[in-house]
Amino acid sequence: ATGTRLEAENATISRGVVNSDHAGYSGTGFVNTDNVAGAYVQWAHHAPAAGSATLTFRYANGTTTSRQVAIAVNGASTNVDFPATGAWSTWQNRSITVPLVAGANTIRATAITAGGCPNFDYLEILA
Ligand code: GCU
Ligand code: CA
Repeated sequence: ATGTRLEAENATISRGVVNSDHAGYSGTGFVNTDNVAGAYVQWAHHAPAAGSATLTFRYANGTTTSRQVAIAVNGASTNVDFPATGAWSTWQNRSITVPLVAGANTIRATAITAGGCPNFDYLEILA
């Protein structure tokens, strides 16, 4: 099944920019957060019903170390590692399962360390 794809370039960005200089992204670009703790990308998602959902983040991390990100769903936060993908133009998926509420949901990915977030292409939500 295919979920709802929410392009990162259409999300709310705090301390970051939309770039298109690394190939392979979906949509019109990807989000490159500043390399600073606290930078975030925030998506809004309207769920028809409450329940468990799989969040899949498509990302690239062209460094040699994981980047740790706090994924907060309606304020409830989990730390998620985004391992190196080998190149900034190599995109991989990282999925977690979370509870969503019926109606408006907020999903915020915040960099925990000074490296910032990985580059984010999109968030896909499958309920
Ligand atoms: C490089 C790369 C960016 C990336 C950045 C980073 O500058 O071109 O797309 O966001 O590294 O280290 O976060
Ligand atoms: Ca960056």
